[in-house]
Amino acid sequence: MSLRFQRAIIVGGSSGMGAELARQLSVDGAAVAIVGHRADELAQVAGRLNAAGKGRVIPATHDVRNYDEAPSLFERLVGDLGGLDLLVYAAGVMFVPEDGVYDFAQDRAQMEINVVGGMAWTNIAAARFEAQRSGTIVGLSSIAGERGRRTMPGYTTSKAALTAWLEALRNRVARYGVNVVTVKPGVVDTAMTRDLVRKPPMMISAERAASLILATARRGGSPSAFIPARWGLVALVLHHLPSSIFRRLDL
Ligand SMILES: NC(=O)c1ccc[n+]([C@@H]2O[C@H](COP(=O)([O-])OP(=O)(O)OC[C@H]3O[C@@H](n4cnc5c(N)ncnc54)[C@H](OP(=O)(O)O)[C@@H]3O)[C@@H](O)[C@H]2O)c1
Repeated sequence: MSLRFQRAIIVGGSSGMGAELARQLSVDGAAVAIVGHRADELAQVAGRLNAAGKGRVIPATHDVRNYDEAPSLFERLVGDLGGLDLLVYAAGVMFVPEDGVYDFAQDRAQMEINVVGGMAWTNIAAARFEAQRSGTIVGLSSIAGERGRRTMPGYTTSKAALTAWLEALRNRVARYGVNVVTVKPGVVDTAMTRDLVRKPPMMISAERAASLILATARRGGSPSAFIPARWGLVALVLHHLPSSIFRRLDL
């Protein structure tokens, strides 16, 4: 089976993997709406893709923390696109606190953007897809959500919550023919990882990550997948490390 995505919304489409997913979909001829809170960045990405791609790209400015705006924006974009086959939730932020810093504002922002915004957008998409008995929801979680990490406590908590949310959503809508895909990238070269002091191993480009994400989503069957798959082995090891050892690691 290979699903065709002709009309897509990408929340968090102004940079990184979201922008690259929009590019690859538009090269394939899809109409794509990209959502983010930086209007200039969105306009630049849309301008570039509209000049180069085959499909139409529509920018929409929105901060995912303005949860009440999501339903009307969703309806407007679905109208502009002429329907919807795919919703990707790629919006996210990551803060790595210094040792000794306990910053509730940052932890809260990560939960609001990475999780609550995701619940707002995927709930709306799930209701539409359940009614139309088709559609794909892709959520960008992370391998970071597999364990509570010393170095990024708020981020790992947000990704664990997003992973659980997507599994629950999948279990609600799979019976209606709706495909809910959890992707858990390892390390991808984007703005999010650019400032990390230690460059992590096994980093891949946003282009490669996006093409693996689309290939996974097109296969259908509501998978939960590490991107690339070799991170699954890392996750297996991490799961089996006793807490007394895990807490000493610089992860
Ligand atoms: N890079 C990695 O190694 C990696 C690994 C695993 C998972 N991920 C996850 O993959 C997703 C995409 O990240 P990326 O690496 O591509 O980083 P990125 O280039 O920084 O992209 C993050 C996206 O989130 C959007 N965003 C952030 N805050 C927002 C807000 N308040 N409202 C609306 N949109 C907001 C940004 O758009 P605006 O700034 O324009 O709002 C941007 O489009 C994230 O969920 C991230 O946690 C990344």
